[in-house]
Amino acid sequence: MRAVFFESFGDIEVLQVGEVPEPKIGPDTVVVKTRASSVNPVDWKIMKGYLDSRMDTVFPVVPGWDLAGVVEAVGASVEEFTEGDEVFGYARMDYVHHGTFATYCAVPVRVLSRKPSALSFEEAGVMPLAGLTAYQGLVHHLKVSTGETVLISGGAGGVGVFAIQIARTLGAKVLATCSSSNFDFVRSLGAVPIPYGEGFDEVLGEEMGKGLDAFFDLYGGDGLAAGRAHLVDKTRVASVADTTLRHSGGHYVFVRPSKEDLDELSRLATQGELQVRVEHNFELEQIPEAFQLSMGGHVRGKLAISIA
Ligand SMILES: NC(=O)c1ccc[n+]([C@@H]2O[C@H](COP(=O)([O-])OP(=O)(O)OC[C@H]3O[C@@H](n4cnc5c(N)ncnc54)[C@H](OP(=O)(O)O)[C@@H]3O)[C@@H](O)[C@H]2O)c1
Repeated sequence: MRAVFFESFGDIEVLQVGEVPEPKIGPDTVVVKTRASSVNPVDWKIMKGYLDSRMDTVFPVVPGWDLAGVVEAVGASVEEFTEGDEVFGYARMDYVHHGTFATYCAVPVRVLSRKPSALSFEEAGVMPLAGLTAYQGLVHHLKVSTGETVLISGGAGGVGVFAIQIARTLGAKVLATCSSSNFDFVRSLGAVPIPYGEGFDEVLGEEMGKGLDAFFDLYGGDGLAAGRAHLVDKTRVASVADTTLRHSGGHYVFVRPSKEDLDELSRLATQGELQVRVEHNFELEQIPEAFQLSMGGHVRGKLAISIA
């Protein structure tokens, strides 16, 4: 099958496009003919070896964790899906080897859900990793509820776009940090834009009222401490970047595959409460370009990958 893969850690140059063996189908897995995926920052972080201390790697690595496609074959015990079903999923395993930047993927049924019929494959394919991160951070970790004021950092990025909209559906007032060039974009999602860095405290102070009820950090660094300082309850902070946060009462979020949470994202998208924003659509062969764009650190919304 055709895939993007690499045989050692390194920079963009290690990425190759070519033929790799098709994955085996296990008793509780399905083989999916991939139609779309998405580039997330973790894909190039894995390529660079940044996750090597946390996850075993089997080379060659086909990167990619987002998946949308059509079930081609089902394993012996699979009753949830049949051939021809349109599915989407967050195909992260506990080790790095078979990813989704390939024409076929074998994935356990526990990571899959039915693709929302209202969405294209590309729209569904950008949703799992980023959408689940947003949903799990706000719902499972922070337990955001109606009437609360929530700060989200990195509001214009892949996770931020979903996080703003999900926090709005939970009934929260949302303040979101972003570059000034993204202020209108963030407003269009239903949040109040806040600059990060210079001017942060001043603008946040004007917009947040008595203080923040919850803070979902999607960037880390100085912005994490700066936002946390404005929390009424300092433990209502969750971060995708700071693995030490729980030692001070907060939450480190590492997104998990979850069929139930995917079903909820699917419901929100079908009801029009969750929109997908795709900045650019790439072909499989253009994944090195997509990695380069993602590494620039200022993607607006998501980068979709179409896979024929
Ligand atoms: N732990 C997990 O489970 C998990 C899951 C998903 C993602 N992540 C991580 O979370 C981060 C965000 O992911 P993503 O997919 O949303 O990335 P992305 O699509 O590349 O977006 C990055 C965002 O960072 C913003 N940004 C740049 N400099 C900033 C600063 N100094 N302060 C605040 N925001 C800044 C950019 O906003 P402007 O363009 O407006 O400057 C951009 O919107 C990545 O590091 C990713 O690896 C972790």
